Amino acid sequence: EKGPYRHYMLKEIHEQPAVIAETLEGRVHRGRLLEEAFGHEARALLDRTRGVHIVACGTSYHAGLVARYWLEELGVPAQVEVASEYRYRAVVVPEGTLFVTISQSGETADTLAALRRARGLGYVGSLTVCNVPESSLVRESDVAVMTRAGPEIGVASTKAFTTQLVALRLLAIALGRRRGLDAARERALCDELEALPRQVEAALRLDEAIRGLAEAFADKSHALFLGRGVFYPVAMEGALKLKEISYIHAEAYPAGELKHGPLALVDAEMPVVCTLPRDPLLEKVLSNLQEVRARGGELFLFSDGEVEIPLDRYRSLPLTDTCPSTAPIVYTVPLQLLAYHAAVLKGTDVDQPRNLAKSVTVE
Ligand code: F6R
Repeated sequence: EKGPYRHYMLKEIHEQPAVIAETLEGRVHRGRLLEEAFGHEARALLDRTRGVHIVACGTSYHAGLVARYWLEELGVPAQVEVASEYRYRAVVVPEGTLFVTISQSGETADTLAALRRARGLGYVGSLTVCNVPESSLVRESDVAVMTRAGPEIGVASTKAFTTQLVALRLLAIALGRRRGLDAARERALCDELEALPRQVEAALRLDEAIRGLAEAFADKSHALFLGRGVFYPVAMEGALKLKEISYIHAEAYPAGELKHGPLALVDAEMPVVCTLPRDPLLEKVLSNLQEVRARGGELFLFSDGEVEIPLDRYRSLPLTDTCPSTAPIVYTVPLQLLAYHAAVLKGTDVDQPRNLAKSVTVE
């Protein structure tokens, strides 16, 4: 079943171009979002939506954090929280708020409990982004936007995350339309989505080179992942992948927070991983990385092929084909591979990490 792959996780990482294409199938056509594909109840619900509350756990929570940046850019107010906190908070729900859950399994106890609690709080309705059609979350939500990742066996979520992000881009476009997103811009955004399978395929070709980088992590106890803007949650996801399968302690920080504490940890024993897309925050990130270099930190960068890196020492791999609205999806792939190879080098049980279960059905 694993085919030529040594682990399910690696197989699932490599399935991403296909399952992303599958998740777009019948939903984007000729530069337009086909909103009907969300089901007939969706339209009325989206029409009433002024903002969203997103609730999820783990990797799915990180997908929600990425979506917040996307939604806000299109004028949609968005809040994101982990389900285990949300469910015990005195949540205040502004009028016109849609309750959104994100889950691979559709059975995560805290996420399900959050949905049940949300029912009495005055939301316009509920929408789930989910991978399992017959799951509790799908059954109990008003609208389900299915990811079509297929069964995910590896405990560390990979293809579920990237297909969640694709589904959330579709949701952002749908809500953006109601906030004045015009047809030309929608076309551009849809074209960027349709380019994704090819771009993820290209990122996967870095596999061998990433295995080389991973050697620098296998004997380390800690790693720091940095990003800014929408790439901060991408860094969080990279850190989670590394810690859960390699047991290397990894933390993600928004690069601008470094000097407020974590910089004290940086030395040659603390590899620092950072994404360097070509975006408006690039100069700021580079100056944060300068601070890391000044403390002797070793840098491992995934950077846009055209970005000049004015740093004295670093190792970097280029991503040459990305688009602004979807780059977080492409940049996730090398971070998944880095975690995978570090774990294989350490000899851990990649598909079945200690202490973890694929579906967390208890609180
Ligand atoms: C991490 C991972 C977990 C899950 C979390 C939520 O790789 O798999 O953090 O993302 O347990 O699970 P779902 O998405 O099934 O609700």
